[in-house]
Amino acid sequence: MENYFADERGFYGEFGGAYVPEILYKCVHDLQEAYLPIIESAEFKAEYHALLKDYVGRPSPLYFAKRMSEKYGCQLYLKREDLNHTGAHKINNTIGQILLAKKLGKTRIIAETGAGQHGVATATVCALMNMKCEVFMGATDVERQHTNVERMKMLGAEVHPVRTGNMTLSDACSEAIRDWCCHPADTFYIVGSTMGPHPYPDLVARMQSVISEEIKWQLEAQIGRDYPDYLIACIGGGSNAAGTIYHYVNEERTKIVLAEAGGHGWQTDHTAATIHKGTTGILHGSKMLVMQDENGQIQEAFTISAGLDYPGVGPMHCNMAKKGRTQVLSINDDEAIRGGYELTRMEGIIPAIESAHAIAALSKLTFKKDDVVVLTVSGRGDKDVETYLKNKAMAGEYGYF
Ligand SMILES: Cc1ncc(COP(=O)(O)O)c(C=O)c1O
Repeated sequence: MENYFADERGFYGEFGGAYVPEILYKCVHDLQEAYLPIIESAEFKAEYHALLKDYVGRPSPLYFAKRMSEKYGCQLYLKREDLNHTGAHKINNTIGQILLAKKLGKTRIIAETGAGQHGVATATVCALMNMKCEVFMGATDVERQHTNVERMKMLGAEVHPVRTGNMTLSDACSEAIRDWCCHPADTFYIVGSTMGPHPYPDLVARMQSVISEEIKWQLEAQIGRDYPDYLIACIGGGSNAAGTIYHYVNEERTKIVLAEAGGHGWQTDHTAATIHKGTTGILHGSKMLVMQDENGQIQEAFTISAGLDYPGVGPMHCNMAKKGRTQVLSINDDEAIRGGYELTRMEGIIPAIESAHAIAALSKLTFKKDDVVVLTVSGRGDKDVETYLKNKAMAGEYGYF
């Protein structure tokens, strides 16, 4: 059987690893040695699951979407990560990483953020654990996701707008790594997705795997079998997708479809569809598919969705896509806006623009009537209301009111 998980050096096939500057070598190495014994300990598991239950509000519901099922000719279930405390899946991971940081004796937390959801989730757990928190965010995203910036500040975090590059997620990651290099002893970097040097892709995937762990028993309880015919999720760095598929990676009866951000179209220069367009390179400490020019210069990503605006994608997904285990669709901005309006009008759920990419994938697939489809709604759309309204003309029949 193909191994789709990390090997002991953090490689997924040819992707992954830990390519870090000398100054970070010790803290990355220490983390590699420490993370599994800690997160597999009974003490950690008890604390982590208690917080997921009573603080985050897990399990998140698995909701049968009746009207959308009729429209797409399948049995559509939505995994409602939008109902988590702070509004997205990101908090599953930050709860786990802050517990790990405390066990390692760190006193200062840094994080990068794109849509602001990971920044808010990090600021939240720092408030909870009384830890100092600094968040790096591209200046473009500070503007387009300003409600989340205010939330982070209210939670006591310091937000650093990053003005290099195109001032989005990738630049925020670079700045966070730069900061980490200056403070390797006391600082823990809470990475927000399945990216970065080993062990982060594996660590984040494990923290998000609670999503598919729940899908299994929820499906069993609702339909009498524990696997779906399809799993669908959006993919930026890859964490909600990794969590959604984790326990189904070797389940051959389940097809996996991931939706990446096409922007204006993956064949254009205005795209974030990394799996379609990327070539192998190293970014933020990991070997992955990266959008780059022939000299290896990183190309700017472009999409309406701040959380998918990344020129790379986590190594687990690069490997699975390359081996044909996942089908990856490129969803353009207008298709995502339309998908977001459609879920809003048909089920009364306003999804994050990131999650709307997964919704839009439904119209590109052909289902049989009794196919069971589980689609992860990674976050809620409160932060995106202005963007939806500004672009309602793209939503076709749903946008006119
Ligand atoms: C709601 C939501 N969904 C999806 C993503 C994409 O991240 P990932 O691919 O790690 O799940 C983000 C990132 O900010 C997000 O906020």
